Amino acid sequence: MELSVIILAAGAGQRMAVNLPKVLHRLAGKTLLEWVVRRVEALQPAHIHVVYGHCGDQVRSELPCLDVNWVYQEQQLGTGHAVKQVVPHLKDNQLVLILFGDVPLISTDTLKALLRATPKNGVGLLVAEVDDPHGLGRIIRNQAGDILAIVEEKDATVEQRKINEIFTGIMAVPASKLSGWLERLKNDNAQEEFYLTDVPSMAIEEGYLVTRIPALCQEEIQGINTKVQLAHLERYYQQTLAETLMLQGVSILDPKRFDVRGEIKIGQDVVIDINSIFEGTVEIGNNCQIGPNCVLRDVTLEDGVVIKANSILEESVVEDNCVIGPFARLRPGTHLEKNARVGNFVEIKQSTIGVGSKVNHLSYIGDTQIGHEVNVGAGTITCNYDGVNKHTTIIENHSFIGSGTQLVAPVVIQEGATIGAGSTITKNAAPGQLTLSRAEQTTLPHWQRPSEGGE
Ligand code: UD1
Ligand code: MG
Repeated sequence: MELSVIILAAGAGQRMAVNLPKVLHRLAGKTLLEWVVRRVEALQPAHIHVVYGHCGDQVRSELPCLDVNWVYQEQQLGTGHAVKQVVPHLKDNQLVLILFGDVPLISTDTLKALLRATPKNGVGLLVAEVDDPHGLGRIIRNQAGDILAIVEEKDATVEQRKINEIFTGIMAVPASKLSGWLERLKNDNAQEEFYLTDVPSMAIEEGYLVTRIPALCQEEIQGINTKVQLAHLERYYQQTLAETLMLQGVSILDPKRFDVRGEIKIGQDVVIDINSIFEGTVEIGNNCQIGPNCVLRDVTLEDGVVIKANSILEESVVEDNCVIGPFARLRPGTHLEKNARVGNFVEIKQSTIGVGSKVNHLSYIGDTQIGHEVNVGAGTITCNYDGVNKHTTIIENHSFIGSGTQLVAPVVIQEGATIGAGSTITKNAAPGQLTLSRAEQTTLPHWQRPSEGGE
């Protein structure tokens, strides 16, 4: 049967206590809704429908990357009413999987098990035994253990509230049956809502089977209602990821102080010190070392790269055996070729540093191509911006830039040139020669320091 997925995301999420719609809150860098979409995409459904409502335009515009069919629910009249909005988009030959947009860590394996277990004309429910069922729908069974119904907390009797088996909100139903059952939902309950959870008892009344599949762990069915729950689930996710990486051989010095907010790929014999943050897509080769307090966003490190403490790298490529930091900043468009070195308080933007070249102290290199084996002395600044346009600096192979130099772009330092310290270079420097621009040094013979009580 073809699979169609419905994700409910129209609720306001008032308990988050902010204006940002709940499903736009982020866990490990991704919005809650994107988490759910990515996990169901692995099931290769024919369609993913997202029911949105509260702050709908904001939700849609923040997530243009999602390949989903947005279905608007004007008024939030309950989960059954929400699913009903999608009925016109369903086909009779489809199996429908219904999830909530605020349950981010649901595993694809659990969903597969639920789909396999769902009877042909009946209902499959994902359930869980929880320590604290407060607020959740309880699974009601007869003495033989067969499911009879789901009862919402607010409609449950005192006895029913003692039941620890709950409905997770995740359900699979054949489309051919679903539309008829939704049509018959009533809102004569404590919350005056059309409950999706009344569907199983309707199926049973009509003689169809309702099966249940238990969740693998409580975290995968954890819905987010408050920022406290979001923070707990974030920690759980980071800890689990750190443990997976450690079992693959990565040395993470403290898995409690390790954060990935995106996708990470790590090679062999890599050591990661505390408090680093990995964002976007990060690839780390073999034998790399990441010092404490680094931020790496959309970065590729080849093998043997050492990043020392407190360095920030964004949209950069670093080739084999480079050494970076401490306190270095690589901005977007930086490319370090093999064996390059970038030291403390150096900022690099949209530039290539060639094989074996060094920019070791207190420099700004922007819009620059540096060749091989170049030495850039301390405090060198490429003046790349004239207030309107950016200009390029080229420093050819084997050049030597003396400390405290300003290179006013556009300018070319030709092969093997030497620039004397303290120069302001406004014209191209000839190859193999010493070029400098410096006021002549003078000494005033009769000068005296001012003294106290003096004139
Ligand atoms: C629901 C279930 C409950 C289950 C619990 C698990 C119902 C009636 N109850 O309760 O059995 O144990 O989830 O967390 O289904 N939504 C819409 N439109 C609406 C109403 C809700 O899109 O009109 C969305 C919400 O944004 C949310 C999801 O549906 O993502 C669940 O709604 P919520 O109000 O949180 O249901 P619960 O009371 O938690
Ligand atoms: Mg809820």
